[in-house]
Amino acid sequence: MADVKEVVVGVTGASGALYATRLLRALLAGGHRVHLILSKYGRFLLREELGFMGEGREETVREFLQRLYGEEVSGGVLEEYGINDLTCAIASGSVLTDGMAVIPCSAKTFSGIACGSSSNLIERAADVTLKEKRPLVVVPRETPLNLIQLRNLTALAEAGATVLPAMPAFYQKPRSFDDLGDFMAARVLDLLHIEHKLFPRWRE
Ligand SMILES: Cc1cc2nc3c(=O)[nH]c(=O)nc-3n(C[C@H](O)[C@H](O)[C@H](O)COP(=O)(O)O)c2cc1C
Repeated sequence: MADVKEVVVGVTGASGALYATRLLRALLAGGHRVHLILSKYGRFLLREELGFMGEGREETVREFLQRLYGEEVSGGVLEEYGINDLTCAIASGSVLTDGMAVIPCSAKTFSGIACGSSSNLIERAADVTLKEKRPLVVVPRETPLNLIQLRNLTALAEAGATVLPAMPAFYQKPRSFDDLGDFMAARVLDLLHIEHKLFPRWRE
């Protein structure tokens, strides 16, 4: 099996919950260890867009992913943290990880990361990732973008994050929403230096 990676994944209340679940699916299928943080609105969008805990269901994220993707997600390790738990391991730079993705990332959260406020665990873990010079991939989903948002994204890029807008390409001839989600998941994995076979590369 390829190298097992430790990846922090933050999921916030921007549209595009599918991008998060396709990334989680790929990480778990690859046998990696995921440290997952859902914001309150990240949870809400997972429910609105994909039916997480819908119709009176009580389920964990792992159960939800298994419901969506079955055996594909039976590998790997998924650890979930509370959004306000600033005492947990990934709130500290002394705990080594291979990087972090915030996917999808709301304008509110990328603003918080850009100004270094660390007011919840997603912002704090992102702050730690930047200060420790590990890869931080931020996948904003908002349109159009106002000047404040553009300046915040610029500040993130200047601080060393990669801004990867949720803009899937169409040259791969996607046939489903999952294909579009996988395009974004693949770009995140590339930036975190994690091998994948989500789709053939251009001219491959
Ligand atoms: C249905 C719905 C869709 C939303 N979509 C977006 C979006 O695409 N991008 C965005 O920046 N905010 C969006 N928002 C607003 C955020 O959820 C809101 O700013 C929230 O405070 C973000 O908090 P969080 O970053 O802690 O998850 C949406 C809200 C709702 C209710």
